[in-house]
Amino acid sequence: MLSKTVITAMDQMDHPKTPPKLGVLASGSGSNFEAIAAAIAQGRLQAQIQLLITNTPTAKALERAQRLQIPAVVLNHRNFPSREALDQRIVGVLRQYQVEWVIMAGWMRIVTPILIDAFPHRILNIHPSLLPSFPGLRAVEQALDYGVKITGCTVHFVIPEVDRGPILMQAAVAILPDDTPESLHARIQKEEHRILVESIAICLQH
Ligand code: GRF
Repeated sequence: MLSKTVITAMDQMDHPKTPPKLGVLASGSGSNFEAIAAAIAQGRLQAQIQLLITNTPTAKALERAQRLQIPAVVLNHRNFPSREALDQRIVGVLRQYQVEWVIMAGWMRIVTPILIDAFPHRILNIHPSLLPSFPGLRAVEQALDYGVKITGCTVHFVIPEVDRGPILMQAAVAILPDDTPESLHARIQKEEHRILVESIAICLQH
């Protein structure tokens, strides 16, 4: 009779460790979503994206999901009576797809403890400023309006307070004299794509 250890070892040979399963939440363009998918495809990130969830039926992220052949689910927040009801459904879908880590990549909804408590310490968010400066909406415009000379982006763990969770990684971006919100955001996004992937990689190692 084979010993338990041998059986376990054989089992692992037959079924190599499956990469951690990610669920991505995105409301808009989805360039961060695609950056994660590209890093996985290029072998820079050992993970798999189980699905994309968007709250916006017209989100460009949906086109990207289709092209990348990643399942996508639309949960339009307008069809839910409360933030909690939306989050309850999101949790249900994430569990259905066996998601282990949740990546908020341009998710423009405030999340509630219903989602946060379902994935303790396993939800990351990317924000286009050097937090704690310029939290909330229009962070790029806020930085330009204030006149700071350096801004950037932040990846942090999600807690109930918006844009306030423990910081994992930041990147600085210099503001140029003739910057517009668009030109500045484009440079910030390059850094976002880099630090979001690096942050996920760090989390998955632990
Ligand atoms: C990013 O700038 C992110 O920081 C902010 O929303 C934007 C989403 O961009 N929260 P994309 O949809 O990933 O292109």
